[in-house]
Amino acid sequence: MNLSDIRLNYAKGALNEQSVGNDPFEFFGQWLQQAITSLVSEPTAMVLSTVDKDGRPVSRVVLLKELKDNALVFFTNYHSAKGRQMELNPKVAALFFWHELERQVRINGIVSKIPESESDAYFNSRPRESRIGAIISPQSQPIENREVMENDFNEIMNRGADYPIQRPKHWGGYAITIEEIEFWQGRPGRLHDRIRFRQQKDGSWMKERLAP
Ligand SMILES: Cc1cc2nc3c(=O)[nH]c(=O)nc-3n(C[C@H](O)[C@H](O)[C@H](O)COP(=O)(O)O)c2cc1C
Repeated sequence: MNLSDIRLNYAKGALNEQSVGNDPFEFFGQWLQQAITSLVSEPTAMVLSTVDKDGRPVSRVVLLKELKDNALVFFTNYHSAKGRQMELNPKVAALFFWHELERQVRINGIVSKIPESESDAYFNSRPRESRIGAIISPQSQPIENREVMENDFNEIMNRGADYPIQRPKHWGGYAITIEEIEFWQGRPGRLHDRIRFRQQKDGSWMKERLAP
């Protein structure tokens, strides 16, 4: 296997200062919609990077569940490793790679917890299995073995379909308010298009093209 021989030429699209417009949040919505309609696998999956107490970056995938007020909403366990990291440092990065479209979007922003009523609404919309999973999983903690987890899961499942499954307080949503966002479109000869927006103090967006 020779990894250095693996290379693709990107030629599916182009991006310019005009086509991207002046509202990056709206443009991101358009790209996301195109990713969904193009049947990209897991179009809402984003790599979320946080920073731990020693300044070490930590990345993992989470699912985008809502776009709202210049922010990206995802759900997780507030006591997880990422939850604790975001408590100490709310600056995060999010990254989408839609390889079928030869597109990447990089986002930097600040996270905050969404209102409890909105977390309740989303939690209650999830399948029963997922809700029970959120209750019994001490996310990011070492556990004895798989059986312990399955036993806890089955114990609640066996209480019957009428047993109320409420959102635990340690599970809910975060909104990443975008401060900086870069759209990347692969181009032939590695002359890729990169357009970055940075939010200014007055709320307007500064747009610039970056070298690939
Ligand atoms: C495709 C995919 C989607 C995922 N979606 C979520 C999610 O929405 N929320 C979540 O907490 N973890 C999600 N995970 C699991 C996380 O990547 C990670 O394992 C977990 O959140 C624990 O991360 P932490 O220990 O850094 O807190 C997903 C993983 C994959 C591969």
